[in-house]
Amino acid sequence: MYDLLHPVMRASAVLGGPSLEAYLLARHRAIDARLERAIQDHAVTQVIEVAAGLSPRGWRFASRYGERVTYIEADLPAMAARKRRALERIGSLSDHHRVVELDALAGSDPSDPASLAAVAAQLDGDRGVAIITEGLVGYLPTDAMLAMWSRFAATLSGFPSSCYISDLHLGSVANPAVHAFRVALSAFVRGRVYLHFDDAADAEARLRECGFATASVRPAGQLVTLPGDPGSTLAHILEASTR
Ligand SMILES: C[S@@+](CC[C@H](N)C(=O)[O-])C[C@H]1O[C@@H](n2cnc3c(N)ncnc32)[C@H](O)[C@@H]1O
Repeated sequence: MYDLLHPVMRASAVLGGPSLEAYLLARHRAIDARLERAIQDHAVTQVIEVAAGLSPRGWRFASRYGERVTYIEADLPAMAARKRRALERIGSLSDHHRVVELDALAGSDPSDPASLAAVAAQLDGDRGVAIITEGLVGYLPTDAMLAMWSRFAATLSGFPSSCYISDLHLGSVANPAVHAFRVALSAFVRGRVYLHFDDAADAEARLRECGFATASVRPAGQLVTLPGDPGSTLAHILEASTR
């Protein structure tokens, strides 16, 4: 889909409109920046990236932090197998950089090996944890996403320090180009793409209802320096903590 849209995006960028690449880079870099900060300032040394897909973040963080950080990349079985093969080829897998099967929609029964609870049980309970999602919540119905957020909060509350970092689409920044893109994306993934919240305050309130003590939703441009492409202003990043 990215390749198909490339000519349209080039034209949009030339005319001063948003581009998909700028949007994707903005959210990716902003999540990187907040995770780095969590590692450096908040004693996070364990990361579970839920729905990691083929994102290179785990490889980059594993290369940068080595044994100081345990990075677990989690996805559904087929994608987890594909990612494991890719990381094996790169030579990045170790005790500190693993790929596991996890279903973000699985309940909180730790006897289910695909549950977050089972994956979190493998971590050191005396060290801080970050959960990351990127490019996931827009594909989940609101009820399923809220239930997942509640499981994230319950899991993270068992660790001495924690944060959840994710991208989030807000209705208030959705212009006609964004709506057209959502329609195209829905057709491409053969499923609905959701805009769960109109604004940041709405999303922050729901995160607190799900069990997080603090929550903020900010434009990616407030968190990291971005190029001038308007696509970068469409990305929002949520950060939530149970302490
Ligand atoms: C759009 S991709 C995003 C991948 C990656 N986070 C990135 O930003 O490049 C969505 C990912 O979500 C994964 N996914 C979808 N449903 C999931 C579920 N229920 N549990 C875990 N992963 C899921 C897919 O396998 C895919 O890797």
